[in-house]
Amino acid sequence: MKTERIIVPLDVPGVDEAISLIKLLPQVSFWKVGLELFIAAGSYILPYLKEQNKRIFLDLKLHDIPNTMAGACRAVLKYQVDLLTLHAVAGRSALQASLGAMQDRLSRPKLLGVTVLTSLTAQDLAFDLKIPLELSQYVLSLALLSQESGLDGVICSPLEVQKLRNICGSDFLLICPGVRPTWSSQGDQRRTMTPKQAIQAGADYLVIGRPITLAKDPVAAWYLLEEELGENR
Ligand code: C5P
Repeated sequence: MKTERIIVPLDVPGVDEAISLIKLLPQVSFWKVGLELFIAAGSYILPYLKEQNKRIFLDLKLHDIPNTMAGACRAVLKYQVDLLTLHAVAGRSALQASLGAMQDRLSRPKLLGVTVLTSLTAQDLAFDLKIPLELSQYVLSLALLSQESGLDGVICSPLEVQKLRNICGSDFLLICPGVRPTWSSQGDQRRTMTPKQAIQAGADYLVIGRPITLAKDPVAAWYLLEEELGENR
């Protein structure tokens, strides 16, 4: 089912709002907990999601020195989440230390390198961040760094997914935010594609938030998305 490849972010300010959303959309099997909810409410939502048999993407986008990242990864193990993000620009030693902190466990989250945020444009990269590489080349170099460091995959824009799939191979997880159904607005996302295009290009999972969570009727928005993906109810 293509809809099992949709991850919906719980980008809400508190646990009550998160639980309401989870109850409203029982069809969603994979939820993302990111900085807003984790900072506002701590880890409370993680055992709740486990009890509901949901898969969990803990999107903390860790970025620090190797010792601190390794400690954070060790601490994450107790939540038994499925996916965890680290910024690839933290560098090879930090990525390897993060993996090393989790590697001797029977089960650990899949580690994903964040390449270039899907809200950033080529102009942001060149003029503000002073990155001399062309955007897609920079994404590729961060994906290769993640892969060489032993990570399980990366977060990238759907516009980059086809190239990364060809170069990084079929076993490397590619997870795409910046996905916008045909009927929704872009918001602050800049490098976007539709869900169908992103899956056709080779994405394993799509993160789709505001088109569903901020819709007047999130349930209707979910059904529209199913329809767009060609799923029969
Ligand atoms: O609402 P929207 O569909 O734009 O949500 C996208 C989600 O994916 C947000 O939770 C955002 O933090 C996350 N994300 C992103 N770009 C990345 C990594 C994660 O938009 N590169």
